[in-house]
Amino acid sequence: MIPYEKIGKVAYGGDYNPEQWPKEVWREDMELLSGAGIDTVTLNVFSWASLQPNETTYDFSRLDEIMEMVRENGMKVCLATSTGAHPAWMAKKYPDILRVDFEGRKRKFGARHNSCPNSPTYLKYSVLLAKKLAQRYRMYDNIVAWHVSNEYGGECYCENCEKAFRVWLREKYQTIDSLNEAWDTAFWGHTFYDWDEVVAPNMLSEHFEENRTTFQGISLDYRRFLSDSILNCYKKERDAIKEVIPDAAVTTNLMGAYKPLDYFRWAKEMDFVSWDNYPSNEAHYAQIAFNHDLMRGIGGGEPFALMEQTPSVTNWLPYNALKRPGVMRLLSYQAMAHGADTVMFFQMRRSVGACEKYHGAVIDHAGRADTRVYREVAKLGEELKSLGTRTLSMRTKSDIAILFDWDNWWGIEYSAGPSVDLRYLDECLRFYKALRCQNFNVDIVGVDTDLSGYKLAIAPVYYMVKGENDHLIRKFVKEGGAFLTTFFSGIVQENDLVTLFGYPGKLRDILGVWVEEEDALEKGVENEFIYRGKKYPAFLLCDLLHLEGAKEEDEGGYQKDFYKGMPAVTRNDFGNGQAYYLATASNEAFYSAFLADLCKKQGIEPVLETPAGVEATSRENENGRLIYVLNHNQQEAKVSLPAPMRDLITGEVYEGGKLVLGAKDVKILERI
Ligand code: GLA
Ligand code: ZN
Repeated sequence: MIPYEKIGKVAYGGDYNPEQWPKEVWREDMELLSGAGIDTVTLNVFSWASLQPNETTYDFSRLDEIMEMVRENGMKVCLATSTGAHPAWMAKKYPDILRVDFEGRKRKFGARHNSCPNSPTYLKYSVLLAKKLAQRYRMYDNIVAWHVSNEYGGECYCENCEKAFRVWLREKYQTIDSLNEAWDTAFWGHTFYDWDEVVAPNMLSEHFEENRTTFQGISLDYRRFLSDSILNCYKKERDAIKEVIPDAAVTTNLMGAYKPLDYFRWAKEMDFVSWDNYPSNEAHYAQIAFNHDLMRGIGGGEPFALMEQTPSVTNWLPYNALKRPGVMRLLSYQAMAHGADTVMFFQMRRSVGACEKYHGAVIDHAGRADTRVYREVAKLGEELKSLGTRTLSMRTKSDIAILFDWDNWWGIEYSAGPSVDLRYLDECLRFYKALRCQNFNVDIVGVDTDLSGYKLAIAPVYYMVKGENDHLIRKFVKEGGAFLTTFFSGIVQENDLVTLFGYPGKLRDILGVWVEEEDALEKGVENEFIYRGKKYPAFLLCDLLHLEGAKEEDEGGYQKDFYKGMPAVTRNDFGNGQAYYLATASNEAFYSAFLADLCKKQGIEPVLETPAGVEATSRENENGRLIYVLNHNQQEAKVSLPAPMRDLITGEVYEGGKLVLGAKDVKILERI
């Protein structure tokens, strides 16, 4: 849980690095930040080198001063542990802390997020630092949260990781025989006789490209292992903090749909989920919303923290366009609309050197308040102050679940065939975007979720069905739910071994189809099918399927090629519900029409009907229900409200009729 009581409003602030500045600047910062309504600062994100100048010395004097200053100025603190970048002396003295990359090259000191997760040195000293910080600052009751490391990620293929991989495998498979079976090592004479023969899969061994591996099972397990190894680093620091401060609220800043880490497993270890939102300027609002909903989903639907976003500009894109006037405010409210209870930035003051000196900040190099960005931050600061606790701790209610799974993501994209263009996230987004653009609230849930609370569950490209997870779907449909999945589903079990005797494997009886073959269409090549009298394109993959109890939902199957006439969309009545199979990929118009039909059939209502580009979501709790209306358009938009409502931000009342929203404007509406 986000510790709301300590803040009493949406926490507003972000990364603050006074250690990069002389003290005269600190006082100025405090004035400017307070003036912008900033109440929470994330401190100490990258200070390991100064906190521990050598192996035996710790020096907290500067951090002490910063902590004091911040407290005196009435600010809350999110205290980071600084372990996202190790000190140079440590790398020199203990090279085991340095990573080995995918090409097998040992890294030297440099950059950040650079420590081997299985380095004994890293584990020892990162945990010790976390413990010392907890001991030293435990008395500060203005600490609202602990921020372990920073944006964990990346990979390592060093010898320590290889050794740890073998231990991980031994725990998982127990015997070398079951390992051989799981990886189907009879293929290409890969039989292992001893655990020590197993090596890390990279360009020196199984891979010939990043995503192309001769043994999917090995590469998949290495992904799982790395995600667990890095998670272990987090857990160890968290435990060290909690040993000293048992009720500390501990988090680490995640990165939305970040492929290397299985965030469903991570979120279980976090007191609350927090994440950093850096969309490109071209990103569609539904793409940003997907990340928010995913971050809410991994945390079981609980509110999350927006830990970072830029107030204006990033520095790491090829073209770092400014966030246009109103966009920072709009995206801040969009985060809240999807479950965020904080609005935080990277960063408070723009640094003077290195690669982030042109990254946006509340205070820029001019060091003054009369800038566009500062004014926008200050205005939002005022609004959030006036909202107080009104928006906090509310939940999103949704009748629709999209099943999302990192193992599926990894498995699909390691797959040799059927198509290199198949991208898991893109397929998930097709469904999500169609729903989001029609203002349906969507929960993104794990594949082991009990779906009984939902009316519609969608599993885009449900390639890998692990264990008995098919029973969750079977039960859901039997009890009256509508389930929808696509081509390339039910193909393998958890080790990437094919489920034999007909695709879609374990889902076959639920869907009532047998997929005999799959045709991969090159970019630009299309087939067609007809749905409700309209022709839609079929591309990417086309399943050639036979009905085994299901009925055809399209009109006349594919329109071209040798499989002309084979169904492209099917429905199976199963128990009290229906299971739909979409045998190909199509365009936005199709997903919109098809999903609108399914929602209608299932009695699912959108939050609000709005013109294109205007997003609406809702959050609720025992105190009521709020509707967020966000105009992502460059021009004003008119929205019809079904009942009289009041805007929480301005207090304006709309007695029914039309609400006019300015370009990029936001309303948070409650019924009156
Ligand atoms: C990430 C990091 C920050 C900063 C920003 C810049 O989110 O966590 O330290 O580098 O990116 O966009
Ligand atoms: Zn390593």
